[in-house]
Amino acid sequence: MKKFFIQTFGCQMNVYDGQRIAAMLKSRGLTETHDVADADIIILNTCAVRAKATDKVFSALGRIRRAKKADALFGIVGCVARESGADAFRRIPELNFVLGPQSYHKLPDILESPETKLLNIDLGGLEKFDEMPQMERSPAVAYIPIQEGCDHCCTYCIVPYTRGREVSRNPLDVMRDVEHAATTGAVEICFLGQNVNGYKYTDKNGVTHRLSELIAGAAKLDTVKRIRFTSSYPTEMTDDLIDMFRTEPKLLPFLNMPIQSGSPDVLRRMNRPYSLDLYINIIDKLKAARPDIQISSDFIVGFPGETDNDFAQTMDITDKIKYINSYSFKYSPRPHTAAAVMKDQIPENIKAERLAALDARLNEIQREFNESCVGRTLSCLCEGPDKTGRHMVYRTPYMQQCIVATCDNAPTIANIKITAANKASLRGEIVD
Ligand code: SAH
Ligand code: F3S
Repeated sequence: MKKFFIQTFGCQMNVYDGQRIAAMLKSRGLTETHDVADADIIILNTCAVRAKATDKVFSALGRIRRAKKADALFGIVGCVARESGADAFRRIPELNFVLGPQSYHKLPDILESPETKLLNIDLGGLEKFDEMPQMERSPAVAYIPIQEGCDHCCTYCIVPYTRGREVSRNPLDVMRDVEHAATTGAVEICFLGQNVNGYKYTDKNGVTHRLSELIAGAAKLDTVKRIRFTSSYPTEMTDDLIDMFRTEPKLLPFLNMPIQSGSPDVLRRMNRPYSLDLYINIIDKLKAARPDIQISSDFIVGFPGETDNDFAQTMDITDKIKYINSYSFKYSPRPHTAAAVMKDQIPENIKAERLAALDARLNEIQREFNESCVGRTLSCLCEGPDKTGRHMVYRTPYMQQCIVATCDNAPTIANIKITAANKASLRGEIVD
């Protein structure tokens, strides 16, 4: 029996794409192996968002080239495939296929004609979601893509180039996936998209469907206990969506809504044209709808032209908003983006200093929030055992990790009394 090896880098959308590719190969009779040397087909599912991510892919390709069986088929899918195109074949001549994020459903073609080099980095369609076989069983958390691509065109971001313009899926297809997930094991539904709250589908009768409607549809299913969505663009937080936090208890009180920078000048050059007042006003509305809602953000430090004063404004905004869990990155110039050719690129040592200062502050705020949870009882979702096997890992409604001593038949959803906290996680005991 033929075996496949797949390694996924990057965002949640990639994790989802990786699961669909694995399901497709299994439906064709292949089995999965975690040993590259044993595989007949090797797939790297790649991320291009920062230069480091792309470099990681090419160094993994170098290692695999030496370790693989001589006749194994070997290739890349995802954003690096789209970023590099035919150039990937020049850099690694042994590659058999290079398939972009919207053409990985063409992967079976390489199984049928292994002697040809397969290159497809076309954009523009979401057929892949409907052409590929469904996963047989859903994990407890089902990621359901509802839109792909992004029209915001932030000047630093390669995603609009690699994933293309925004396209939203037909809500009937989305709800079919939600129902399939809910009947095969999903307890939590996470709607996914690069600009997920920009989801907008106008059907043949001229009726426009929004994310709030998908949330309401998923909430009607009894087995679905928790709903969330990621990643959101601030100015697409429409009132109907904010209202869902008031009316739908299954929607978790947690939202990733990246601000990127606290400096209006930097935001303008990033092509993120919202004012800080507007951003704060959206958070105030969210808090009015759900007083306990918590926000997380992504940050970029060292964007071209960022001054000490700009950076100080980023530090200030973290104090004002009290983000409980964030990702922060050094700006990385990417091909096909406007910021890569801007003047005043910031030296690496300054980027590193700013990142360390921001991370220290974000960690402190996260620890404060975690500590404020001690003594509370929270309804949490079980993700499975930790590496030692001695504990179970649960997720709180705010997406914190909560570690619980292993017990027999750990419930999928449990009320957990939080007994201790540190920067990274909580500890607790199941109370029923
Ligand atoms: N809305 C998207 C965000 C894509 S990239 C989604 O989650 O699907 C994820 C994060 O990477 C961005 O929010 C941004 O903070 C960071 N990022 C994007 N391009 C970057 C670059 N060139 N350098 C550093 N960080 C970057
Ligand atoms: Fe990238 Fe900005 Fe869209 S970060 S994914 S272009 S909102």
